[in-house]
Amino acid sequence: MLSTFTMKFQSQIAVIALLLCFFLSCGQLVTKQAGGSLNFLVVGDWGRKGLYNQSQVAYQMGRIAEDLDVDFIISTGDNFYEDGLTGVADPSFLQSFSQIYTAKSLQKPWYAVLGNHDYRGDVLAQLDPVLKEIDNRWHCQRSFTLKYNLCTLPSVSANDIECPSAAELYFVDTTPFVDKYWEIPNEDTYDWRGVTPRDIYLRRQLQDLEKALKISKATWKIVIGHHTLRSVGEHGDTEELVQQMLPILEEFKVDLYINGHDHCLEHIKSLTSPIQFLTSGGGSKAWRGMKKDADMNGVEMYYDGQGFMVMKITQKNLHAIFYDIEGNIIHELEMSKNHTNLWAKKSSN
Ligand SMILES: *[C@@H]1O[C@H](CO)[C@@H](O)[C@H](O)[C@H]1NC(C)=O
Ligand SMILES: *[C@@H]1O[C@H](CO)[C@@H](O)[C@H](O)[C@H]1NC(C)=O
Repeated sequence: MLSTFTMKFQSQIAVIALLLCFFLSCGQLVTKQAGGSLNFLVVGDWGRKGLYNQSQVAYQMGRIAEDLDVDFIISTGDNFYEDGLTGVADPSFLQSFSQIYTAKSLQKPWYAVLGNHDYRGDVLAQLDPVLKEIDNRWHCQRSFTLKYNLCTLPSVSANDIECPSAAELYFVDTTPFVDKYWEIPNEDTYDWRGVTPRDIYLRRQLQDLEKALKISKATWKIVIGHHTLRSVGEHGDTEELVQQMLPILEEFKVDLYINGHDHCLEHIKSLTSPIQFLTSGGGSKAWRGMKKDADMNGVEMYYDGQGFMVMKITQKNLHAIFYDIEGNIIHELEMSKNHTNLWAKKSSN
């Protein structure tokens, strides 16, 4: 998949993905037949060797992914419980990932961020390219960007650079933002290699995010991190991110912030901007209950059980669908944008 050019023809949809640059910030032209969309799944907080309903969620993901022909899968972190991986040879990688998400439809790139539990093991292991030799789906980085230009066949060719930028996904490493993990003494041990000095690391992540958002021409801007911004689940809001990151997301009109960490499925609307907060953290842990005295303003959906999310994106429309472990739809979010102006501008220069 990460080679230069892949082509796949199916009866309905032709996908031509061209990798334009290095993985850390790459652009892909995704070409679909009219009516086709960029499709992906989002799951979080899952690696428990198939137990606690992880396998049931994996089964439904496989089933839904097959119907949709998904392009990739996103993991919102806490990939391996309880304490990440002990090293690249840790059998948990196979037991909790390769041997669980076995459906043919899930043999696609998995783009993962790290959660706080992942930082409690050998943090460098999950980032090590050696894991790709064991399972080539695995792409885990601390922070990175994926850009998708959506072209519609047969009106444009795959290398037509006029294909509009449909979606940009910004993955942020949120664990180092949380003060309590840095407290000494601490009941847990965190592997901060590659993250210190902390203040420089955090500042740089925020600056990189701001720079990327500022120049983005994408219709849909989506930021993904492990920790919550807004949540009524057990952990609630992450104050450090609300203070340091949310203002940037609001200023540059990010459409969605997607996270895990709280082991539930959630959709909360912002009351101060168009941003929507989506939690997909039900990959195996669940049933933790709500946070006491949670701020219920803007809550559109809160489901305490296991499940995952599907996202379908076109140039004009975005459709998020939450599924429970039986494969029932429990909530949907639809958004659309009017692009008359964008196209008018393009043809006039
Ligand atoms: C697995 O899912 C079912 C259905 O939602 C639920 O009743 C059960 O408690 C779950 N098991 C665990 C360990 O969470
Ligand atoms: C889209 O925007 C144009 C120009 O502002 C407007 O004329 C048109 O009615 C809009 N279409 C929809 C479906 O909102």
